[in-house]
Amino acid sequence: MIVIKTPAEIDILRECNRIVLEVLDEVGRRVQPGVTTLELDAIAGRAVRRRGAEAAFKGYRGYPKSLCTSVNEEVVHGIPSHRRLREGDIVGIDFGVRYRGYCGDAARTVRVGRVGGGAARLIETAERALREAIAAAVPGNRVGDISSAIQRTAEAEGYSVIRDFVGHGIGRDLHEDPQIPNYAASERGPRLRPGMVLAIEPMIAAGGWEVEVAENGWTARTKDRSLSAHAEYSVAVGGAGPVVLGVDGGSV
Ligand code: MF3
Ligand code: CO
Repeated sequence: MIVIKTPAEIDILRECNRIVLEVLDEVGRRVQPGVTTLELDAIAGRAVRRRGAEAAFKGYRGYPKSLCTSVNEEVVHGIPSHRRLREGDIVGIDFGVRYRGYCGDAARTVRVGRVGGGAARLIETAERALREAIAAAVPGNRVGDISSAIQRTAEAEGYSVIRDFVGHGIGRDLHEDPQIPNYAASERGPRLRPGMVLAIEPMIAAGGWEVEVAENGWTARTKDRSLSAHAEYSVAVGGAGPVVLGVDGGSV
């Protein structure tokens, strides 16, 4: 069941996602060669508490940390550890909050120092796929139009789209209906209506789309160990167009 949000609820979701984006900014500023992903997790934990919110991922289905930090061939759900980031790495940083009874969720892939041209192009393509997907989040379109926009953008650059993870509705729960695949499935999916709030999150890879989950039960990485990038915003479907929650002016 897709829950339609009232304008008052969307205002709260805006605040939730403002906190998420502020924390991502704060963490992103600390990404540099030599930092451990556990240090980044501690920064996020402090930053979210200082804002009177809670880290939504911590304890979710037993997830042990506040942040997800997915390095290079890791796609999503990398668990912060004593691993030190190195110059040239790319790290997906995914963060969610719970605040005033609602959730926020966003992610970005950050460069560690100077990265190679291939890595930069992969990240830029994930960001562009997200912008194209957001542009498709308008009333009258279907969920499948969001999916197609992502797939088209990624595949035009020769990249593949991860199939095992999806975007999702978001509200009182971190994961609500509808699921939002990042590739066009045969069913075009539910029609988009004003008041839907969607966490749109393209995950793409430089090689194949197949993933495997590491021994820790969480970290998903590409089977062929090719680089992967992830970008996510929570977006409200508005009568006058998509509103990117937590961003001034609502567009990116
Ligand atoms: N942004 C991801 C998602 O929406 C992160 C979830 S991590 C988890 O699915 F720990 F909460 F599972
Ligand atoms: Co999400």
